[in-house]
Formats: sequence, C-alpha cells, structure tokens
Amino acid sequence: MAEKKFSKNILCIGAGYVGGPTMAVIAAKCPHYKVTIVDINAEKIRQWQTDDLPIYEPGLLDIVKQARGRNLFFSTEIETNITDADIIFVSVNTPTKNFGEGAGKSADLQYWEKTARTILKASKSDKIIVEKSTLPVRTASAMERIVNSNDSGVHFEVVSNPEFLAEGTAIMDLEQPDRVLIGSRETDSGRKARQEIVDIYANWVPRERIITSNIWSSELSKLVANAFLAQRISSINSISALCEKTEADISEVAYAIGMDSRIGSKFLNASVGFGGSCFKKDILNLVYIAESYGLREVAEYWENVIKINEYQENRFVRKMIAAMFNTIAGKRIALFGFAFKADTGDTREAPAITVTRKLVEEHAQVVITDPQALPNAKKDLEDILDRVEFEPDPYKAALGTHALGILTEWDIYRTLDYRRIYDNMIKPAFIFDGRNILDHDKLFEIGFNVYPIGKPAQSHI
Ligand code: UDX
Ligand code: UDX
Repeated sequence: MAEKKFSKNILCIGAGYVGGPTMAVIAAKCPHYKVTIVDINAEKIRQWQTDDLPIYEPGLLDIVKQARGRNLFFSTEIETNITDADIIFVSVNTPTKNFGEGAGKSADLQYWEKTARTILKASKSDKIIVEKSTLPVRTASAMERIVNSNDSGVHFEVVSNPEFLAEGTAIMDLEQPDRVLIGSRETDSGRKARQEIVDIYANWVPRERIITSNIWSSELSKLVANAFLAQRISSINSISALCEKTEADISEVAYAIGMDSRIGSKFLNASVGFGGSCFKKDILNLVYIAESYGLREVAEYWENVIKINEYQENRFVRKMIAAMFNTIAGKRIALFGFAFKADTGDTREAPAITVTRKLVEEHAQVVITDPQALPNAKKDLEDILDRVEFEPDPYKAALGTHALGILTEWDIYRTLDYRRIYDNMIKPAFIFDGRNILDHDKLFEIGFNVYPIGKPAQSHI
C-alpha cells in the first residue's frame, strides 16, 4: 500500500541507463516522494541494490546511496507497484525494429505496448503515464488508445518528458539541465497532468528552464535534438576528410568556426565517428517518419548524417591499412578504448565495434583495452572471441604491437608514458589517434608515425 508519509508515489518502468539515473536524482532531490524502479530483468534489479551498480556513471553511486532504502526502491514486482503509483515513468527500450515493415529504421514498440497493457491491467485508480523513452512522434496517441480502452472508469493521462542526459555526465545533466521539456494534450486534464510533472522538477530546476509544449512537439523535439547533435559531428567529420587532403587542420577550422556565436564551439570534435544508443536509432526514426509522410527529400537529408558516420568509421580503417603498407594481416594492433565515449562502460553502436570487425576481416590480431567497457566489448564480439584479446592494462595491451588506435577519449590515455609504450612495440610503430587527444608532435619525436583525424600525418618513413 502507498505509505502516507510520502506526498507522491512515483514509479519508473525500466531500470536502464535512462530510468536508473533519472529516478535516483528525483529521489535524492525530493525526499517527500516515494520513488520505485521496476524492471523485468531481476539480475539488474539485484545489482541496483548493491554498490556494484549495473551501469558505470560518475557520481551515480553517491546519489543512489543518499536515497536508497529511504525513498528510492528497486523491485521486480511490476504490477503491485503500478497499482500503488500516482505517476508512472516509462523508460523501457525502444530499439530499431529488425523485422517486417520498417525494419532497420522504425522503432520497435513491442515493449512499449506490452508495458501499456500491463499498466492498464494493474491500475485501479487514475494515473499519469510519462513517456521517458525516445519514441516516434504520435506514440502517445497509440498509448492513450490502449490504456483508455477500458470500462473501469480509470483515466490515464499520457505526458511526454524526453530525456536529454548524456552518458558520462548524466548526473550533472540531471541536476543542472539546460532545459526540462514536458509535453501534454492541451486539454484541462492534460494541462493538469503536465503541471504535476512540472512540480516534480521544480523541486530543484529553476522554473524558467522547465518548458512545456504540446505533446507532439515534445516527442519530435527529442528526435530533432539528437539529429542536430549528430549532424554537427557528421559535418565536422566530413570536413576532417577534406583537411587530410589539403593542409588544413580540423582543430583550427573547428576553433575558427566555433568562435562564431551563431555556430557555437561545442560538439565540433572530429572523431572516428559517433556512437551511443540514441543518435543512429533516433535519426533512423526521423527518416522513417519523414518517409512515411512522403517527405522523401527530408528523409534523404537526415539519412546522410548516418552515411557520413559510416564513411568516417570505414575511412579510419582504410587509413590504417594504407599507412601500414597496404597489409595488416598477421599484424598486432592495440585499440585504446572500446566505449562509445569516455566515462561510460556502454558500447552500444560504438565505432570500436566496426573498427575491430574490419581489422579482424583483414586478419589483424586485435588487442582491446578499456577501463570500463571490456565486459560489454566481450558481448559485442561474442562471435569472434577467438580472434581478439582483451587486456585491462594499456601498457600490456601495447606490448609487441605494430600499431595503436585511440578509439575512446579516456583521460588516462592522455597521460600514458608513450616512450615506454614505443620501446615495447614493433618498428616502424604507428599511432592512429581517432579522437585527437594526444600530443602528436611529441609522439612523432619519440619515433611514432602519427595519423590524427583531419590533420596532416607525421611519418618517418
Ligand atoms: C531506453 C531507450 O532505449 C531510449 O530510447 C530511451 O530514450 C530511454 O530508454 P536506456 O535506458 O539506455 O534507454 O535503455 P536500457 O538501458 O536498455 O534500459 C531499458 C530497461 O527496460 C532494461 O533494463 C529492460 O530490462 C527494461 N524493460 C524492457 C522492462 O523493464 N520491461 C520491458 O518490457 C522491456
Ligand atoms: C546523446 C545526447 O547528447 C543526449 O542529449 C541524449 O539524451 C542521448 O544521446 P550520448 O549518446 O550519451 O547522449 O552521448 P554524447 O555526448 O551525445 O556523444 C555521442 C557520440 O558522439 C559519442 O560517440 C561521442 O564520442 C561522439 N562525439 C561527441 C564526437 O565524436 N564529437 C563531438 O564533438 C561530440
């Protein structure tokens, strides 16, 4: 039963990268609410109850410990918790559909629909359902149709509150968000539900940063925010290829254009490519929606953001092969970093997956090192485990290699003793900095042949 000592009972379905940190911050900031997170994955729920959390995120454990057992609870009892909840956040995964109509592009909403039906079945009182997962525009209307197709007199109000946190900085993004967006129906009950969600965030977010909109704008804004962010990376990455052909330097170009306040300086780091669970999936979703409304040109425009990303990943491997005398068969190559970005153990859509597979296709011997992502890397490469090695210590990983590839911008890779690493490598030694985080002149002085992204290579050969 709902305890009287809490003013609201908040439930979150889906204890993943989004649901876990978001609810932990709500619970830490609002001791007067009871916050419960449920998941169908019992092992994940067990881990959330220990100090060995199922995801790595700086600062997360401290926040969880502040609230766990006080007003933050983890459970596998989905239905009873639905019955007790006033507000239900849904952050189950919505992967790209891999079968049937829209395969490879549209979102697979089967978990969402299943969740909607479970909510309907277990509810005995009115509820607010909050879409936290990124969803195709107009999902709320499908959700409403499912949950309000009952004759029990229970009313459900569906609200959209997309998550804008980035992994690695999730806690900061949640504590000090640029904005919180809440969309609802423009009806009396819709606006009332929206206000209830505004009230939650108003406990710690300045009111002017909490923006409200109609529900479709809110759903679409999430897709568009990710599409714009990814587009910036593809734009700078496309120019990095041009820099490598001319004598321009991508860092100088990015700095020069970023000083224009209309462009802005963030998200202009050229790289081996973007990864993460959202960018590709959300753009594919946008493409699918545009196509389904007959907007072919719009779909093609956004599709190219993904194409450039694939091009950039492939180009990185082609560059390695070309530099190493057009053959890497039998050569030992260490990859520094496997996570899709620093400060996370997440490897979903990581460029390292594509790079590793291509190197293995060329019969290279690949050694992977990463401070957090090796367990996920092993799962991603399950079918080729006999052809790759995993080594947590970067110095050991580099022993006897012909080349190093920097794939994740982990801080520890900036300060390694590269002379020591060089001394233990086969000569000529190559370094391919897929994140432009190293001191390239210094590496060249040590003796490395250095290949950054979007800058002239420095070669002794
Ligand atoms: C997910 C979506 O992928 C993303 O689109 C959205 O923006 C937020 O939610 P994330 O939290 O990173 O992102 O996903 P994941 O870490 O996979 O977590 C989803 C959780 O939902 C998993 O723990 C899974 O076990 C759980 N789940 C899934 C349920 O509890 N019930 C289901 O029916 C399906
Ligand atoms: C992204 C959005 O930033 C976030 O708002 C949304 O809620 C989820 O998707 P995330 O995928 O966690 O967050 O990380 P992000 O920091 O956006 O990085 C995505 C990818 O782009 C990473 O692979 C990163 O290394 C790459 N990147 C980022 C670049 O290659 N260059 C840049 O300048 C910035």
